[in-house]
Amino acid sequence: MELKTYYAGLSLRNPIIIGSSGLTSGYERIKEYEKAGAGAVVLKSLFEEQIEMQSSEMLDKADFPEASDYVHEYMRANKIESYLDLIKRCKEGCDIPIIASINCYKADAWIDFAQRIQQAGADAIELNIFRMNTGLHHDSQAEAKLYAEIVGKVCKTVGIPVCVKIGKAFECIPATVGMLKSNGAAGVVLFNRFYQPDINIHNMQIVSGNVFSNHSELSETLRWTAIVSGRLSNMSIAASTGVQDWEDVVKCLLAGASAVQMVSAIYTHGAEIISQILICLEEWMHQSDYESIADFRGLLNYSQIENHEKYERAQFMKYFSDRD
Ligand SMILES: Cc1cc2nc3c(=O)[nH]c(=O)nc-3n(C[C@H](O)[C@H](O)[C@H](O)COP(=O)(O)O)c2cc1C
Repeated sequence: MELKTYYAGLSLRNPIIIGSSGLTSGYERIKEYEKAGAGAVVLKSLFEEQIEMQSSEMLDKADFPEASDYVHEYMRANKIESYLDLIKRCKEGCDIPIIASINCYKADAWIDFAQRIQQAGADAIELNIFRMNTGLHHDSQAEAKLYAEIVGKVCKTVGIPVCVKIGKAFECIPATVGMLKSNGAAGVVLFNRFYQPDINIHNMQIVSGNVFSNHSELSETLRWTAIVSGRLSNMSIAASTGVQDWEDVVKCLLAGASAVQMVSAIYTHGAEIISQILICLEEWMHQSDYESIADFRGLLNYSQIENHEKYERAQFMKYFSDRD
């Protein structure tokens, strides 16, 4: 069976990418995932806020306010250096593609850093762009344009593929992905899963909800993977959020994804699940008479099915009327 796939210009031995998370913040674990069969790895994101927070904590303790610029720069450089070292180490020790990840919400601060990521040997960059909008007069079109602008600036700076990991909060997801593509994005990750707040009614505190995704969250991933894949046939998609087992992997590929990203399932089941998924995927392909991923990828995307309503349907009216 040929499990090889192409994602954002990269050749992957199979479609399973370990998504950006604590799982991918150190070389030893990354090597373990490679041995278990992973097709690629996205490193833990370097967060703009993280760097700034560290430097301000240090500044709080400093007696010399005039040193602030120096300390800030020092902290930023240090954090960046250790990230670049991780990229270099992974590239020396692993054969699978290593995708670096930057979490950003504005273009300027990260442009030079993207270049250094490329110099360190990363095979691609994943931009995790996120802005939380809570205003009453938010301009959603301007928001999508801002994302495209960030992508455009980074793409002009580096020669390696740039992927964009987005959330679902856009007025029109295919239009946004189209704009990202026009500005140079080689791939898109659908979707990021954000921190989920919950409320503890006993102590009246805002607490963390489920850190890990579950099966039910795959549905929206499938819907938009299928629609975007049908609308933009030459855009690479990595399906992400809710991919828990081999059947989910098959579903995402049928919907048109070039690859899947997995995090929660790896946290829960460990690296062994990767080889189990690959065995089951091959078995399913064998039973279905498919020799390669290309034989069935996108067979059930938006442009391949006659009734688009299957992916467009948003209301449950019929379901409930059928069931009284
Ligand atoms: C503990 C944890 C840490 C994460 N850290 C990052 C991160 O640094 N950057 C990022 O882009 N996504 C991060 N994510 C989000 C994951 O990459 C992924 O998008 C999300 O978990 C959905 O995939 P899943 O359903 O396979 O878990 C993190 C997720 C978890 C659970």
